[in-house]
Amino acid sequence: MTLPDTLNRPELAKDAAAPARMELRGIAKGYGEPWERTEVLDRLDFDIEPGKLTVLVGPSGCGKSTIVNLVAGYDRPDTGKVMIDGRPVRGPAHERMVVFQESALIPWQTTYENIVFGPRLRGDLSGVRLRLAAEQLIDRVGLADFRDKYPAQLSGGMQRRAELARALINNPRVMILDEPFRGLDAMSRQLMHAAFLGLFEAEKRTGLFVTSELDEAILLGDRLIVLSNQPARVRAVIDVSLPRPRSTAMLDSAEAYEIKRAAMELLHEEALRSFVGGSQASDLLLAHTRRR
Ligand SMILES: Nc1ncnc2c1ncn2[C@@H]1O[C@H](COP(=O)(O)OP(=O)(O)OP(=O)(O)O)[C@@H](O)[C@H]1O
Ligand SMILES: [Mg+2]
Repeated sequence: MTLPDTLNRPELAKDAAAPARMELRGIAKGYGEPWERTEVLDRLDFDIEPGKLTVLVGPSGCGKSTIVNLVAGYDRPDTGKVMIDGRPVRGPAHERMVVFQESALIPWQTTYENIVFGPRLRGDLSGVRLRLAAEQLIDRVGLADFRDKYPAQLSGGMQRRAELARALINNPRVMILDEPFRGLDAMSRQLMHAAFLGLFEAEKRTGLFVTSELDEAILLGDRLIVLSNQPARVRAVIDVSLPRPRSTAMLDSAEAYEIKRAAMELLHEEALRSFVGGSQASDLLLAHTRRR
């Protein structure tokens, strides 16, 4: 009888349980034919630390979702490497799950059916174990009363929570979230933050979170990666050392305020650059803004 690889090699089994580290090194990525090419990422380097939530913030259209696609393995960089625990990422895998802004729930399946769909299809969890895992996750995202409802019967916030549960049931080593709460009203967003913080802080799973909201970035993240305009490079790395468990009240602290001010200044500069396209007017505008 052959044992599964992880049983033969205990160091691998241990590794699989430990939070993953991801590294992006010298990444460049562009789209289009050579004569009309858009360079979207350029010499991009950053780490996604194990057990931490790394948050990408950057101007609209700078290439955040392009980075998500590379980290998820949906796409390959033109140059450079994306690595997980020192191994190159060669394609999508269940160890790296993505939650997008758009709902990907299957409309004719209930919350429960949506959550168990993937593992059931692949046969990697079944029977009582699958049911227990799904029920537990449904509880943890606060959807117990909506277990048997269809997506159209859920609010936007509930749909996002169902999606979180649907990704988490795969027990991924890295959770990747691309503006998952964009478009929600303020109250739903607040509920999402509480639910997300609860899930993240219980497990400290390695995470990459994309947002354009600085308050959200500071409330949730351990580290902010502030991106430049397109082609995106890392403008600044800002550590958020607010204690955990986090609460919204912490956004009123001096540290949160200082991080927000610093990040805002950088993003403002980048927005101005893109607005006036590097012309002399841009320099004038920048000089003017800095003085104020
Ligand atoms: N598959 C593709 N083919 C061609 N161009 C693309 C493709 N994907 C993205 N782009 C271009 O790359 C640039 C960056 O897009 P991307 O979606 O990564 O930005 P973003 O920062 O996620 O934007 P947003 O803030 O709107 O979410 C844009 O100019 C976009 O038009
Ligand atoms: Mg995007």
